[in-house]
Amino acid sequence: MEREKAAVEIERLRVEIDRHNYLYYVEANPVISDFEFDRLLERLLELERQFPDLVTPDSPSQRVGGQITKEFSSVRHREPMLSLANTYSQGEVMDFYNRLGKLLREEGVEERDVVAELKFDGVAVSLVYRDGLFVQGATRGDGLRGDDITVNLRTIGTIPLRLDSGSCAGLQGDDREIEVRGEVFMRKDDFERLNEGRPEEDRFANPRNATAGTLKLQDSAEVARRSMTFVAYYLKGIADESALHFERLSLLEKLGFFTGGHYRLCSDLKEIDSFIDEWSEKRWKLPYETDGVVLKLNAVHLWDRIGATSKSPRWAIAYKYPAQQAETELLGVVFQVGRLGTITPVAELEPVRLAGSTVSRSTLHNFDEIERLGVQLHDRVVIEKSGEVIPKIIRALPEKRTLFSEPIQVPSSCPSCGTQLVKPEGEVSWYCPNEQGCPAQIRGRILHFTSRNAMDIRSLGSALVDQLVVSGLVRDAGDLYSLEMHQVVQLDRMGEKSALNLLHALDESRKRSYDRLLYALGIRHVGQATARELARAYPLFEDLQRADEAALASVPDIGPVVARSIVDFFARPSATETLRKLQAAGFSFREEEPEEPANRTFEGLTVIFTGALERYGRSQASELVRARGGKVTGSVSRKTSLVVAGKEAGSKLEEARQLGVRVIGEEEFETML
Ligand code: IVH
Repeated sequence: MEREKAAVEIERLRVEIDRHNYLYYVEANPVISDFEFDRLLERLLELERQFPDLVTPDSPSQRVGGQITKEFSSVRHREPMLSLANTYSQGEVMDFYNRLGKLLREEGVEERDVVAELKFDGVAVSLVYRDGLFVQGATRGDGLRGDDITVNLRTIGTIPLRLDSGSCAGLQGDDREIEVRGEVFMRKDDFERLNEGRPEEDRFANPRNATAGTLKLQDSAEVARRSMTFVAYYLKGIADESALHFERLSLLEKLGFFTGGHYRLCSDLKEIDSFIDEWSEKRWKLPYETDGVVLKLNAVHLWDRIGATSKSPRWAIAYKYPAQQAETELLGVVFQVGRLGTITPVAELEPVRLAGSTVSRSTLHNFDEIERLGVQLHDRVVIEKSGEVIPKIIRALPEKRTLFSEPIQVPSSCPSCGTQLVKPEGEVSWYCPNEQGCPAQIRGRILHFTSRNAMDIRSLGSALVDQLVVSGLVRDAGDLYSLEMHQVVQLDRMGEKSALNLLHALDESRKRSYDRLLYALGIRHVGQATARELARAYPLFEDLQRADEAALASVPDIGPVVARSIVDFFARPSATETLRKLQAAGFSFREEEPEEPANRTFEGLTVIFTGALERYGRSQASELVRARGGKVTGSVSRKTSLVVAGKEAGSKLEEARQLGVRVIGEEEFETML
């Protein structure tokens, strides 16, 4: 194609891709399938490969990342990035509102409308657009200067790389720059998916930590894989300085930003209080975490006059919902043995309701934590759940201690195999050193091997793995592949049909990709992302096995600790033995063709997703349907065969019901898969 024609085609593709990106991420209402979307993107990438001089920083091709940053440079903020004064009491919100009234009266202003918004729990960033193009994105840093993380922010689907030119015309002030501030966060489903792919020992405690860690990564392709969301709540630099905050929020939406949509103009304290009350329960149903409500003076042109203290503005305040807590009794502590031999104390609690669910267990992490809490058996304890995080014991109530309380004994030997426990220097955890013979460790390694992101052998649940290990039939993952029919049928509750299913599933699993296999091996600190990097850097397994620490540490995102752990793994005779069995079982230890779908259950069906699924991301679910012969569309019509409704399903569910389209929930969807 000639250059000129290519330039036109490239521009057409960019506009189209941007539009679909917006529909997918901001409106959550895609009108084309992921497959069609990928085709458009592929076409754009191909043309840009042919004409590299036509690549621009606002091209959607730049979202896939790939750039490696050595160190982020520091940039000065246009205006200081202040934080907000926090309060936990609605009484203090009243004080704020009264104070605001007084300050405004001093300015001769009577009106004091306030915009109530949700407080998003993430990482604050500032985005600069010059002539409508996204040119710089930075973290808050010390408020005056932050890190330039533009390459990472470009990968976020809800950050427009260029602003809708129609809405943008006449918008900018003299310096042609506008600034948008907001929060980057991870949706609960995206967070869970990310954590699931990480080794247990490296999981993030909550979506906020995961977001902060991801924004700092130096490999933007990895950032692109971990879905994050940007929500905009502040717009400055526009020509019309008199625009109110409420208007600015809707302007942000017109420009293509995601605002969450849950903000309200309040003209008295009653309205503010009812917004706070309303969201105190409703927030649990959102697909992301909110920890409070932010109140801002609607009249932006008065912000500067009202002013700020050294840390926070006087025209805004953050109300934080009290943490969800409950009191209960610590009934007992069990000691779990992980696949790497780590001993984790787990608290068994008198079941108690907390933030919408019943809690009866909670991890105590390690023995230092038990000591720090000073908790004893049968103590009354306070547990807390913030957002989506697993509940944890935050304090013991020794004043309520009775005669029945007794100290928690650190076991001296492994609860699974009885071997003397060890505590390596400098570590907080105790370990069972009996790597080869400890049933709990063997079981843990096999369950990791068969888990969803690894070999995904669903018919091999934990009860079955227990039997296989206890009966001595299986000592490592490699043994699974020499199981025979007569051995399997003799297990408890195992009919001929289930046995056949299991052998078939094992057979199928041999086709899993090389990077999944690397992840499945359960090498310490090697999660899905690291496994992918390793597969890319060492397409031949023999080379990986032979690599030394220095070579491994030069692979992106692999540090000295991970490199060491990989070398240690291959040095173990047990690993060599397992690998030999897996090789004999026919696993190809190299990069190969993509996986084949398991079945064609969605053949000929047109499927629509609405609401949030708990166990699948939207694109993952669509992918699964397509791989099984189905089609995924965005809007309900008579041609729709099936609607899969997740949590908080909205108007599409209604439409489907009216049209008499079949509606199923997540469980049934999973069964179909
Ligand atoms: S406005 C100068 N609005 O919470 C005021 N902040 O605890 C700029 N946050 O520093 C911030 N949701 O990082 C604003 N709707 C919202 C927010 C929000 C979350 C963050 C922000 C802020 C912190 C204060």
